[in-house]
Amino acid sequence: MTLQEKLSTYSREGKALLATNFYNFETLSGVLQAARAQNKSIILQLSESSLQYLGINLAATMAREALKAYGVEGWLHLDHGSARDVVHQCLDAGFDSVMIDASEKSFDENVKISREVVKLAASYNANVEAELGYVAKLGQIQQPSQYTQPDEARRFVEETGVSALAIAIGSAHGFYKETPKLQLDLLLSIHQATPAALVLHGSSGIPDDQLRQAVKNGITKVNLATETKNMFMRTLQSTLRDNDEIDLRKVFPVATASVRKLIEEKLEVVSPR
Ligand code: 13P
Ligand code: ZN
Ligand code: NA
Repeated sequence: MTLQEKLSTYSREGKALLATNFYNFETLSGVLQAARAQNKSIILQLSESSLQYLGINLAATMAREALKAYGVEGWLHLDHGSARDVVHQCLDAGFDSVMIDASEKSFDENVKISREVVKLAASYNANVEAELGYVAKLGQIQQPSQYTQPDEARRFVEETGVSALAIAIGSAHGFYKETPKLQLDLLLSIHQATPAALVLHGSSGIPDDQLRQAVKNGITKVNLATETKNMFMRTLQSTLRDNDEIDLRKVFPVATASVRKLIEEKLEVVSPR
């Protein structure tokens, strides 16, 4: 099944897919072990910095082969693509889905850029996600003035043809200084205004009950990055603190297992059986 089909089915049925970023083989493996254990589908995401770190083709090949090897249904997605160029490279490398993030531009510019990407992706039969409103970047604070408005969301989706839409409803990238409060009524209004699959960015640090409620009110794709990265590195650090083991094949699996546990917990929250 294509990701477009999966997302539109899930959007109608009120279900969500977990989309988690990976950074290396170990985090990828932890995520896939979790999906396999729960027999659930997953979206594997790469940011531009991870693409630079791993190399686009190597990353895409590793992800595809890993999905096969673990027997998991999953899709490879470009997270926060900043320009048509990188989108094109990812499509050429066989990505199933791309995000074009022109959310810092004006509404009309955002429409124009996103619509072009939809046209480009169509010839690859790939899924496109865009962002309307502005989800604060790492270290920034979400401003209510940047929340997504339902009527604009409807117009944006009609004018661009995107099938997935990242919306700003009170989440932010990275951890939070104070417990976030998602605008769940606003989410419901956006969901009623447009058929696009709605994407929650910044899911790290959002309490489970709010994540559950967000899925109930129309979120179809839940993006998780910081918690995955943090879990891997914290476990690695504590494993190595009183340990001079140099066989990385003995050390890394401990951190991989902690990622698996985290992702299993998140899968239980966003896509209960
Ligand atoms: P977090 O890092 O807060 O989980 O956000 C992830 C994200 O939105 C990736 O696009
Ligand atoms: Zn994001
Ligand atoms: Na977050």
